[in-house]
Amino acid sequence: MAAQSKTLFEQFLAPIFSHLIDRDALVRLRDRIDWETGVAEFTNPQVVYPNYYKTSNFHGIKNGYLNIDAALTYDPITQYVLPPGETWVRESLVKAIKGEPRRLLDLGCGTGTTTLMLKRRFASAEVIGLDLSPQMLVMADYKAREASLDVTFRHGNAMATGLPAASFDVVCATLLFHETPPAVAKTILSEAFRLLTPGGQMLVLDGNQRALRATDWLSNIFEEPFIRDYSQGNVDAWLGYAGFERVRTEDVFWLNQLSYGRKPLPVVERGEGRGEVGVGDLPMPQPA
Ligand SMILES: C[S@@+](CC[C@H](N)C(=O)[O-])C[C@H]1O[C@@H](n2cnc3c(N)ncnc32)[C@H](O)[C@@H]1O
Repeated sequence: MAAQSKTLFEQFLAPIFSHLIDRDALVRLRDRIDWETGVAEFTNPQVVYPNYYKTSNFHGIKNGYLNIDAALTYDPITQYVLPPGETWVRESLVKAIKGEPRRLLDLGCGTGTTTLMLKRRFASAEVIGLDLSPQMLVMADYKAREASLDVTFRHGNAMATGLPAASFDVVCATLLFHETPPAVAKTILSEAFRLLTPGGQMLVLDGNQRALRATDWLSNIFEEPFIRDYSQGNVDAWLGYAGFERVRTEDVFWLNQLSYGRKPLPVVERGEGRGEVGVGDLPMPQPA
């Protein structure tokens, strides 16, 4: 029977969201944007879509993110799935950034909500958002223009961005890794490590792996093909594997977590004048 083949998402979440979403507003928004021109302008023909990305439906949207519907409905839905509040959850990442970075990169930036918050917080910095979906980038760019924020959006694969090594002070990824196979998340972290300057900060905001493991229904209800694999993994371990130090993860409310890692400084620069020298930072005595 057709009803039996419905996913939990189709049975429960889609009807709820359809009540919460203002369809007329979405149609007006769709008509205000020149999608054809925007998608053509953002599309980099050299970008190769990984298999996991082309073949998966993410939270019930067929053809994943490579369509206008995904870009239009993403924000209206996301505001309801980040308790206790979307802005509060995203701010946990922005507030965790130390110092005054000059160049920041948001990997898998989607419709750019976190990217724009980064630009608001670090107004004089160069902020770049990168995503595999030209449609999501069109939406992100529209939001940036509406907010008069100077942010660059770029079509690319976070696993191999093509951006120069050691060119960013901060790299972040928000709500990306629960939608990628863990092997992809690890590759993205290695790429982020390459892109960061020594001492640069890596921040990952995503679903709380411990909470997801403990509440199986959560992994079932969102139609996310890789969320179970993600929840079985450990972002701390992935950060360590990529080479980051000072790795730690903290809960953001109970459904999300924020992970942090730093690209090590060359030994001579460690702690100089910063009072930061720890036991692990001290050079090992050399045999005479
Ligand atoms: C759940 S959305 C998160 C969007 C945004 N970061 C946010 O916080 O709202 C995941 C995004 O990651 C993008 N994505 C998935 N795999 C990617 C990859 N390998 N490289 C770049 N973007 C990717 C998708 O196109 C989608 O826009």
